[in-house]
Amino acid sequence: ALAIAGAAPCLAFDLQGHRGARGLAPENTVPAFERALEIGITTLELDVGVTADGVVVVLHDPFLNPAITRDAAGHWLPGGQGPLVRSLTLAQVQAHDVGRIRPDTAYARTFQAQEGRDGVRVPTLAAVFERVKSLAADHVRFNIETKLNPLRPQETVTPEAMTRAVLRVVADAGMAQRVAIQSFDWRSLQLVRQLAPSIPTVHLTIQTANNDNVRDGAWTAGLRIGDHGSVPRLVQAAGGRIWSPNQGALTEALVRDAHSLGLQVVPWTVNEPADMERLIAWGVDGLISDYPDRLRAVLAAR
Ligand code: G3P
Ligand code: CA
Repeated sequence: ALAIAGAAPCLAFDLQGHRGARGLAPENTVPAFERALEIGITTLELDVGVTADGVVVVLHDPFLNPAITRDAAGHWLPGGQGPLVRSLTLAQVQAHDVGRIRPDTAYARTFQAQEGRDGVRVPTLAAVFERVKSLAADHVRFNIETKLNPLRPQETVTPEAMTRAVLRVVADAGMAQRVAIQSFDWRSLQLVRQLAPSIPTVHLTIQTANNDNVRDGAWTAGLRIGDHGSVPRLVQAAGGRIWSPNQGALTEALVRDAHSLGLQVVPWTVNEPADMERLIAWGVDGLISDYPDRLRAVLAAR
């Protein structure tokens, strides 16, 4: 039987397992969520898409990812992009095995400690809720990312269709009190605020050399950083309460600024203990990590 660890050592701190516990078990799968529960996370971070037959499934990419996907015969999908999830039925998606990383890929080199296994399927969001309920892990929350890309709208169902589908599953499972919805595409968050105002929304930002979702308005529902001066102010203008920046773009001054605006700050994806220590010292409200075991150890040692 699975031993579910209690809440994190510091109750107010949100210890989030990224894609379950991607560093330890196959991302966004039931084994990864179980591993995270054993470690003692407070929140399971996960990504969702919608199949051709309208089912909300838990996976990161809009397509089946050849680096982690084998077909029913056990063959790795050919490189490049696999078929779009929106073009496959649930049965077609679940005919694939996502329990291992393809050897000799950059992904395998990054996550060498991930424990692979056979016979692991892409779960539905409803099945993940059921599994967590069956384990009586009642303190655990879910940070659900509607995986959308306004620059590639053909790859998924529309933001509205995806957001509505997720809200339906959450309502059917009676989980509205235990979820937050996060997105880089703030149109999805606007819709959550309209349709289910009690569900917290999480404004994701990324600012790297090649990728910046606050530079123009496509991702941010028309808001532009130039009109607001700083990213926390942009999040506040969007009606946000929780800001999840990529950790590389965060400074202590920005954490202070965000807190002065009443925002919580929960950076991603933080895997090195030294970075965890530094960000915790800056006063962040939670961290999202592929290695929730490391994060729990850092919190316990404080
Ligand atoms: O929670 C934010 C983080 O998960 C965003 O990055 O690409 O791992 O979904 P990604
Ligand atoms: Ca995510």
